[in-house]
Amino acid sequence: MIELKTASQIEKMRVAGRLTRQALELAGSLIAPGVTTGEIDRAVHDFIVKNGGIPSFLGYAGYPASCCLSVNEEVIHGIPGKRVLKEGDIVSVDVGAIVNGWHGDNAATFPVGKVAPEAEKLMQVTRECLEIAISMAAPGVRLGDIGYAIQSHAEEHGYGVVRQFIGHGIGSEMHQAPDVPNYGKQGRGIRLEKGMTIAIEPMINLIGHEVRTLADGWTVVTKSGSVSAHFENTIAVTDNGAEILTKL
Ligand code: MF3
Ligand code: CO
Repeated sequence: MIELKTASQIEKMRVAGRLTRQALELAGSLIAPGVTTGEIDRAVHDFIVKNGGIPSFLGYAGYPASCCLSVNEEVIHGIPGKRVLKEGDIVSVDVGAIVNGWHGDNAATFPVGKVAPEAEKLMQVTRECLEIAISMAAPGVRLGDIGYAIQSHAEEHGYGVVRQFIGHGIGSEMHQAPDVPNYGKQGRGIRLEKGMTIAIEPMINLIGHEVRTLADGWTVVTKSGSVSAHFENTIAVTDNGAEILTKL
């Protein structure tokens, strides 16, 4: 069953979404050569807690940190720690927070200093995939059409769309119905309705769509070893389109 949110519930998700975006921006502002991923995680954790939120990833299925920091060929779920960022890396930051029982979830990929043109382009196209999806979202629009649009834009550039991990409904829990795949067939899938709140999160690989999980049980990497990018927003479906809830 898909939980439709009332206007007052969406207002609560706006508050959670804003804090979640602020935490993501903070992480982005700290990214620089010589910084460890563990330092960024600590700053994100402390920021969320100081502002009355709960880091939703911490302890989720045993996950040991407050954000995911995935570097280069790491797609998602990279565990922050001693790794030192260096010039030319790209870092996908994924942050979730709960405020007064309501969730926000967002992600973005940041460059460390100057990066290879192909990595720069991948980040730009992945961001465009998310923007295209958000611009399409409205009552009556089918998730298959949105997935198709994301996949088409990525594949036009020769990139691989990750299939094993997808977006999701979100609200009083981080993961709810419906599934929101970044691939699909036109004319298929459920139709969006006013009051649905979903996290759209394209994960796009420079080469190949296949991924595997490392022995730590979390870190998902590209099978090809190529870099990968990830952008995510939490949105609400409104009368005339979509509202981004994870915004400043
Ligand atoms: N942001 C991820 C998602 O969209 C969740 C991270 S998994 C966790 O599903 F374990 F880190 F919480
Ligand atoms: Co998500």
